[in-house]
Amino acid sequence: MKKGIVVFGSHYGATEAYAREIAKRLDFDCKNYKEVSKLNDYEVVVIGGGHYAGGITGLKNTIEKVDTNKTLVYIYSVGLSSRTEENLKAIREAIRKVVPVEKADDSRIYYYRGNMDLNKLGFIHRNMMKMMIKMTKKIPENERTDDNRGVIELTEKSIDFIQVNDVEDMVQQINEQMEKK
Ligand SMILES: Cc1cc2nc3c(=O)[nH]c(=O)nc-3n(C[C@H](O)[C@H](O)[C@H](O)COP(=O)(O)O)c2cc1C
Repeated sequence: MKKGIVVFGSHYGATEAYAREIAKRLDFDCKNYKEVSKLNDYEVVVIGGGHYAGGITGLKNTIEKVDTNKTLVYIYSVGLSSRTEENLKAIREAIRKVVPVEKADDSRIYYYRGNMDLNKLGFIHRNMMKMMIKMTKKIPENERTDDNRGVIELTEKSIDFIQVNDVEDMVQQINEQMEKK
């Protein structure tokens, strides 16, 4: 059996940047989910996907290709939201819609922060974000969270929260797990 692979679903490169870093540190293969047909030969499969309004890019498609009796699955999602308990709960819920706990329990789920440049978004995504900005502006100023303010600022500047070193926790956990085998 091969050691491991990182499979990512990424529209604008944030999830891919984390995928490349994880793969580099673990010496794993690294592929876009659209290029993957089967995943039976790996001891570990790390699945990463951008968080888009309650969905995780490529996650459903990828988990269906993994035999979780033979393969250890780790999942990470990438989004703009900060790491508040409420946001982390929403991300876990998005993952649980497609991956039941017996395939990857919460200890094998990670969340990293991504980036956004409104001018680089595709037509549909840009319009969705414009709608979100409009709705966020309706929240009274004294009730806005930091995330709300960040969303509003997107009209003036791009945001980049990518910190590839954040993958180290997951990398260590995977290394420890593989040493036990
Ligand atoms: C239409 C749209 C919806 C989004 N929804 C969320 C969301 O629900 N939660 C979140 O944290 N980030 C959300 N984001 C931000 C993306 O997750 C973020 O830009 C991420 O870096 C994208 O990763 P990717 O480039 O790998 O696709 C959304 C972005 C767009 C364009």
